[in-house]
Amino acid sequence: MKQSYTSQLFKILLAGIILSACRGTPTTKAPIHLNQNMDFSYAYKAQEQNPYFADARGMRPKIEGTIARGHLIDNPTLQLGKDEAGKLVKTIPLNVDKAFIEKGKDKYNIFCAPCHGGLGDGKGMIVSFGLVPPPSYHDDRLRNVEDGHFFDVITNGIRSMYGYEAQIPDIKDRWAIIAYIRALQQSQNSTEKDLAGYTLSQEELDRYKSAEQAAQAEKERAAAKLAAMSSDELVKMGKELFTTKTCNACHSLDGSNLVGPTFKGVYNHSVEFTDGSKTKVDDAYLTESILNPSAKIVKGYAPAMPNFRDLLTDVEVKALVEYIKTVK
Ligand code: HEC
Ligand code: HEC
Repeated sequence: MKQSYTSQLFKILLAGIILSACRGTPTTKAPIHLNQNMDFSYAYKAQEQNPYFADARGMRPKIEGTIARGHLIDNPTLQLGKDEAGKLVKTIPLNVDKAFIEKGKDKYNIFCAPCHGGLGDGKGMIVSFGLVPPPSYHDDRLRNVEDGHFFDVITNGIRSMYGYEAQIPDIKDRWAIIAYIRALQQSQNSTEKDLAGYTLSQEELDRYKSAEQAAQAEKERAAAKLAAMSSDELVKMGKELFTTKTCNACHSLDGSNLVGPTFKGVYNHSVEFTDGSKTKVDDAYLTESILNPSAKIVKGYAPAMPNFRDLLTDVEVKALVEYIKTVK
C-alpha cells in the first residue's frame, strides 16, 4: 500500500524531533533555564568566599558577647542537667507524673530501644546485627547515677554513642525519657516489699511459673552441654565468640590497649583497679569481668565494658574464659 505524502512527511518530522533531544556533544554552557522558580539563590553557601569582609570568609564567626536565638542557657539545671557549679543534678527538675512517663516511653521506644532494647537491658535489635552492645541500665552503676548524667548522655552522647540533641530538640522530652528509664530500672529490680499491695491473677502467676520452669530446663540443658565439651572445643568456641560477640572491638590479642585492656598474657597476672585494690587474674575474676563488669574497673580505663550477663549463655562465658586463658 502506498503511503500518503503527508503521512511520510509527518514521520520524518517526528523522527527529527525525537533525535534532536539526543545531544551529540557535551557542552560547558549552562542549559537555558526558562522558569527560574527558586532554583538559584544569592545566599552564600558553606565555605564560600565573601569579598565584602576583610578575611573573605562567607561563614561568619560568632560575635563575642552575643547569643544565637534559642541558645540562651538561663536555666542550666533544666537545659544542661547541671547546677550553677557544673555538678550533675540528682533528680529530674520537672514534675514527673504518669503522662510525663508515658511521653518518655514513646520517645524511648523511638530513639533508644533499637539499641538499648525495650527493657533497657542492652539487647536492642541492632545488637543482633553486630553492634557493640550498650550497657544495661540495670547495672548498679547506672541505677545509682544522677539523672543529670542521663541528660548529658542523651544530649551530648558518650564515647561510641552519638548525642541525640538534634533528634530530640525538646528538652522536656529528654527528661521524660529519663523518667521512663527510671521506671524500667524499677521494673527489673523490685523487691517483694515493693510489690506489697499488688495482687497478681492466677493466670499471671502461672505464666511466671512456666517461664521460670523453662529457664531452669534451659540451664540444665546448658550444664549438660558444658559437661560434654572438651577443653579444646571450649577454646575453639571462645575464639569464635571473641569476634562474633564484639569483644575484639575493645580488646586486642597482641598487647595493644584499645578501649579495654589487652588479653595478651592477662591470665595469672596482677591487675590493679581504680579504687587502688589489686587481684590476680584467675577464672573467677575473668567470669566476673564478663558478667558484672562494673564490679571492678581496671585502673586507667573507663567503665565502658557492656554487661554481657544477658547476652551470653553459661557455656559461652566458660568458653570465653578458657579462650582468654590461652592468649599468651
Ligand atoms: C545507635 C545505638 C544507640 C542508640 C539509638 C542509643 N544508644 Fe545509648 N548507648 C549506645 C552505646 C553503644 C553505648 C555505650 C557507649 C560506650 O561506652 O562506648 C551507649 C551508652 C548509653 C548510656 C550509658 C552511659 C554510661 O555512663 O556508660 C546511657 C545512659 C545511654 N546510652 C542512654 C541512651 C538513651 C537515653 C538513648 C535514647 C535517647 C540512647 N542511649 C540511644 C548506643 C545507643
Ligand atoms: C565497648 C568495649 C568493650 C567490649 C565490647 C568488651 N569489653 Fe571487656 N572491657 C572493656 C573495658 C573498658 C574494660 C576495663 C574496664 C573494666 O574493668 O570494666 C574491660 C575489661 C574486661 C576484662 C578484665 C580484663 C583485665 O585486664 O582485668 C575482661 C576479662 C573482659 N573485659 C572481657 C570481655 C569479653 C569476653 C568481651 C566480649 C564478650 C568484652 N570484654 C567486650 C571494654 C569492652
